Amino acid sequence: MSIIEKALAKQQQKNNETSVEVEQKTPQEETSNNTVDLSSKDILALDKASLAERGYLIDNGTRKSIKDEFRQIKRKLLNNAFGNASKTLHHSNLIMVSSAKPNEGKTFVAINLALSIALEQDKTVLLIDADVLRPSVVRELGVEEKPGIIEYLLGKSEKVSDIIYNTDIDKLKLIPAGKPHHLSNELLASEKMATLANELANRYPDRIVIFDCPPLIGVTETLVLASLMGQALIVVEESKSSIADIQAATRYLNEDLALGLVLNKAIRSHKDLYGYYGYGYGT
Ligand SMILES: Nc1ncnc2c1ncn2[C@@H]1O[C@H](COP(=O)(O)OP(=O)(O)OP(=O)(O)O)[C@@H](O)[C@H]1O
Ligand SMILES: [Mg+2]
Repeated sequence: MSIIEKALAKQQQKNNETSVEVEQKTPQEETSNNTVDLSSKDILALDKASLAERGYLIDNGTRKSIKDEFRQIKRKLLNNAFGNASKTLHHSNLIMVSSAKPNEGKTFVAINLALSIALEQDKTVLLIDADVLRPSVVRELGVEEKPGIIEYLLGKSEKVSDIIYNTDIDKLKLIPAGKPHHLSNELLASEKMATLANELANRYPDRIVIFDCPPLIGVTETLVLASLMGQALIVVEESKSSIADIQAATRYLNEDLALGLVLNKAIRSHKDLYGYYGYGYGT
């Protein structure tokens, strides 16, 4: 029994519920002639010392267990994105990070995943703050606020390249959320967002694009976003979401999606025990 199966079994026992189904994929091909220029003049400097202090995978010394856990997660995601499975996935390099409920660790996982791939693999990663109602990627990274996805979807920033920023980590690019707008979530479900996803997937199929998304329960637009992705990582904080929550959150996800669960165990009183129980892919 894998670690994630054990953790889920434990949770299942607690909730006296039935099991969760995770994942799958089917074929689909897509072509586009649209082009996106990913270059940008601004270079955003990350607050590395603070990131390392808060458990982000920025340095080489500490947090070995989290590092190893993220290695396992990213190996599977990269396999899905570029290995044999990629042929059966639509937009295999677009990965959403979400959760059933708020505050389960989506942003923590999305940033760590992006850092882990950018720092250790020969892959460029584009991290997108798509949680436009509660954006926090810019704050967490300690970089300057910039126009982002909202301005682009509103038509205020014309070109995608205007909202893609280089960072002082060579292989890490960032699209911030931008200024919150009263139609923020509706914009996420717009045609323009779908076009943007197509462009990113087709123009740069060799890059990983990670979307830090809103939660699935209570934000219907997250499902629309999911329909644009090839892969989804659902973060589950053990003490927060029940099996029933996870089922409710994943029930209506696009069937073509490669779906994985990350169990994020946050023991607030023992900071160093924070950690991931595992990653589940497939059933
Ligand atoms: N495994 C972990 N180790 C250390 N800190 C963690 C871990 N998981 C989450 N945190 C911390 O818990 C807090 C909540 O996490 P995070 O902001 O990533 O959740 P979220 O799901 O993105 O929340 P929201 O729904 O508000 O966007 C943050 O301060 C984050 O740094
Ligand atoms: Mg968040």
